[in-house]
Amino acid sequence: MRRILITGATSAIAQEAAKHFAADGDAFFLVGRDPDKLAAVADDLRARGANEVASAVVDLLDLPRCSQLIDDAVEQLGGLDTLLVAQGTLPDQAECEVDPALSLREFSLNAMGPIALLIRAAAHFETQGSGCLAVITSMAGVRGRRSNYVYGAAKAAVSTFLEGLRSRMGDAGVSVVDIRPGFVDTPMTAHLPKKTLFATAALVGERVYQAMVAGDAVVYTPWFWRWIALVIQLIPRSIFAKLSI
Ligand SMILES: NC(=O)c1ccc[n+]([C@@H]2O[C@H](COP(=O)([O-])OP(=O)(O)OC[C@H]3O[C@@H](n4cnc5c(N)ncnc54)[C@H](OP(=O)(O)O)[C@@H]3O)[C@@H](O)[C@H]2O)c1
Repeated sequence: MRRILITGATSAIAQEAAKHFAADGDAFFLVGRDPDKLAAVADDLRARGANEVASAVVDLLDLPRCSQLIDDAVEQLGGLDTLLVAQGTLPDQAECEVDPALSLREFSLNAMGPIALLIRAAAHFETQGSGCLAVITSMAGVRGRRSNYVYGAAKAAVSTFLEGLRSRMGDAGVSVVDIRPGFVDTPMTAHLPKKTLFATAALVGERVYQAMVAGDAVVYTPWFWRWIALVIQLIPRSIFAKLSI
């Protein structure tokens, strides 16, 4: 039985991943900001076979509180094997450009909260000598695009942090999983027109589960985003700067 902390547990993608862990009979400490949504997720996971489900209502913009959550999970579950960081918001880039406070708040939610969680979790898992640390980052972190570089910069910061952490954690037997979805049809993207490249939360959530169980390093999902990422990385800077994406 795994003991799993999920932050942003009401996320559509995280819920789909959690269904698979619940079917394995795992135990959960769920963290989210909306008590009603959190209770519904907890009930669903219990019905699907979860061994135990505890939860906490937390605004994940509260960075000191993020750091404490690892200790809370250890206390609630009697230990901790697995962390899935899933909170995120997709800000309006144009609004961010004229509102520094908004930009920094978005950066905090998408990067600083996850990093605060990872620092404390890494210390715990390193001492333990086992575990899985996973974060849902994004394809948006692959390069800075004019249409969403505040969000993209936050995701890139987390991916870079994870790469260094993976190198450190390899010696301790801890897996560090960076999941980079492309477009996914979830509440976060509800306002966007749905193009052909959109995947379902169920498909991406299942891939999150598989990657965490396997201890994969970097996962693009669906699979074709790996090749799109490669092409995007190869475009010369002078040409990339002229693209309106
Ligand atoms: N959808 C995509 O196309 C896509 C693509 C690449 C990466 N991602 C990443 O995937 C992850 C999951 O997103 P999703 O697509 O599943 O969207 P979602 O369903 O909207 O999930 C976002 C989650 O973040 C939580 N959250 C936002 N602000 C918070 C705060 N201040 N305190 C606590 N929780 C907060 C939301 O809580 P509430 O339920 O209370 O709103 C929700 O649980 C995110 O990190 C996102 O950046 C998504």
